[in-house]
Amino acid sequence: MVSIIELLAEGVSFLYSNDIEGSKNDAEWLLAHVLNCSRLTLNLNGQTTISKESETQFREQLLRRARREPLQYILGKVDFHDIKLKVDARVFIPRGETEILVEWLINHINKCMGNTFSDGENFPSLNILDLGTGSGAIAIALAKRFPKSCVFAVDRSPLALEVTRENMRRNGVNNLQLFTSNWYSAFEGDQELFDIIVSNPPYLTRQEFDTAQDEVRRYEPVSALVAEEEGLRDIRIILDGAQRFLKKDGVAAVETGILHPQRLQKIYGKRFRQTEILKDLNQFDRFFIAYR
Ligand SMILES: C[S@@+](CC[C@H](N)C(=O)[O-])C[C@H]1O[C@@H](n2cnc3c(N)ncnc32)[C@H](O)[C@@H]1O
Repeated sequence: MVSIIELLAEGVSFLYSNDIEGSKNDAEWLLAHVLNCSRLTLNLNGQTTISKESETQFREQLLRRARREPLQYILGKVDFHDIKLKVDARVFIPRGETEILVEWLINHINKCMGNTFSDGENFPSLNILDLGTGSGAIAIALAKRFPKSCVFAVDRSPLALEVTRENMRRNGVNNLQLFTSNWYSAFEGDQELFDIIVSNPPYLTRQEFDTAQDEVRRYEPVSALVAEEEGLRDIRIILDGAQRFLKKDGVAAVETGILHPQRLQKIYGKRFRQTEILKDLNQFDRFFIAYR
């Protein structure tokens, strides 16, 4: 029988020899997942021996990771903002940058609605639309934070929406409605419906995708990542639609590629009352905000 500490050391060295960045971190996550415990528990119980079954399971997962399958797909879960989400190959893995967008929106809503929210009362009843919801990361985080608001989330992929539905259930959210839709097509014929439109749409160029890490290129859905017209096509559909679907004083907040915000400012600067560019944690221009 092998102990936790021995198996972990073997896992780290296997991943390292397969050029996996963060091999210690990944091996710990995988073993903790197999044993259904925390990483701290692993480290506190290094001499404990492991069943043959768990050992086999761990080795299978190490192989998947060595083939560059993203850690989050193997674990089947990811933490996002203050929620936990199921993820698998049907959906894009939510990224840390997008948490900045969610946090910005929460601050904007709090500031602009003039509520403190400290006592859990007086939540605003806004109509919020998340375009291209994938796992539901943005929509579910906002629906939980603003329980009196109606959140609408669309995705073109019915398979992705199966995962969103599961994540709604896991997070106990019921103020969120899902639509299979090509961007705004589910709302065709309407206008001025939403106070907030938020999106993390596909924005990589084909060339950026072709040179992305194997984890992204080989495992994540290409339809979630790549956009025509130098990565701008979907962003432009979203901002063009925002001019019509936002209520007066509403705001559109979109995650973009780092070269996009300056170009968007030129195109949309005069079409909206005000526009703004926000940076990500690496100080790259990453988000474009447009106020109707
Ligand atoms: C980069 S992923 C973002 C997923 C999620 N919002 C997040 O931040 O983790 C983009 C999402 O847009 C969806 N999508 C792509 N084209 C679309 C379209 N024409 N209409 C609706 N959704 C679309 C993809 O299926 C994918 O789920």
